[in-house]
Amino acid sequence: MTLARLAHALETGVLDLSDTPRVVLLEPNPDVDLGVLPVRDVTVQHNFKPSFDHFDAMGARVTTAATGPADVVHVTLPRSRELARGLIAQAEAIAPNGLVIVDGAKTDGIDAMLKFDKSRVTLDGQMSKAHGKIFWFKAGTAFADCALPDPAPVTDGWITQPGVFSADGPDAGSMALAAALPKSLKGHGADLGGGWGYLTRYLLDLPKVTQIDLVEADHRALTCAGLNLKDDRVALHWADAGKWGVPGSLDWVVTNPPFHTSRTPDASLGQDFIRSAARLLKPKGTLVMVANRHLPYETTLAASFVHVQELDGDTRFKILQADQPRTSDKPGRAKRR
Ligand SMILES: C[S@@+](CC[C@H](N)C(=O)[O-])C[C@H]1O[C@@H](n2cnc3c(N)ncnc32)[C@H](O)[C@@H]1O
Repeated sequence: MTLARLAHALETGVLDLSDTPRVVLLEPNPDVDLGVLPVRDVTVQHNFKPSFDHFDAMGARVTTAATGPADVVHVTLPRSRELARGLIAQAEAIAPNGLVIVDGAKTDGIDAMLKFDKSRVTLDGQMSKAHGKIFWFKAGTAFADCALPDPAPVTDGWITQPGVFSADGPDAGSMALAAALPKSLKGHGADLGGGWGYLTRYLLDLPKVTQIDLVEADHRALTCAGLNLKDDRVALHWADAGKWGVPGSLDWVVTNPPFHTSRTPDASLGQDFIRSAARLLKPKGTLVMVANRHLPYETTLAASFVHVQELDGDTRFKILQADQPRTSDKPGRAKRR
């Protein structure tokens, strides 16, 4: 919880924000308490839709692209080093003569970032707390060359951007799934957690597929998907796959679900995607997904679908197909069993 470090710095008086009316928070963790800030004019920038919605529901001013001007910009360190540097460059740009605060966990690379930043600026202060560090400095132009690069081609012409999932090129699990996609998939379906569009591009090649909804929570990834997929059959949705869509409306769902938040593996994310697929599918609908072999999805699949089978796989991945969702709480539909 990063604002715990900020709260501690404020409480102990090491950092004083009382004369800084306009604060921007760049991509904070959703569990932060905005009440720790001694100011009322707070803007939150968020790229990740569930977090965006969370801050919006709290009544905060939320945007995907904060422009300032601000007196203080607080950067929560993301895992991607290039994205982290890009956010620091953005922080300097939107807080001319203001203060930039960088805050992050050891596991997200705060020590390396501290070293990097100290090579470019003189810090006004720093503090260690809760398995991480927070430090701050006056905004200038020291990081102007670190601005986040625009989306650009990487391997085989795929367009990605630092910070998105598998930014260097196609993910091995998604490649395995693309190769095993059943030719029988037909009609209207969704790529849940579609990222920058790799799987959807292969789904478009299936002869009977007519329409694809690519649902993705990462705004930057979705922008890349728009550049990778120029096809009228694809609709892009910046949405939380757990909440998106009309129950009982789809013929098929394909997904390589997320499997970690930060550095911690978390099978509940994929399990939520499975339940969401069951919610979205028509009674005869089909889910096809890839997962790392060790991830425990079978129990959730069996609870959510009548038929489950392993289509393909190796020691690393399993490609799973599930048919006929058991979900019975779709509006207007009688209970099937
Ligand atoms: C394992 S990656 C797969 C990405 C893409 N399908 C591919 O093959 O490269 C999972 C994706 O799910 C997205 N994601 C995570 N949580 C999400 C949510 N609640 N709703 C929608 N997408 C989400 C992530 O941003 C990431 O792009």
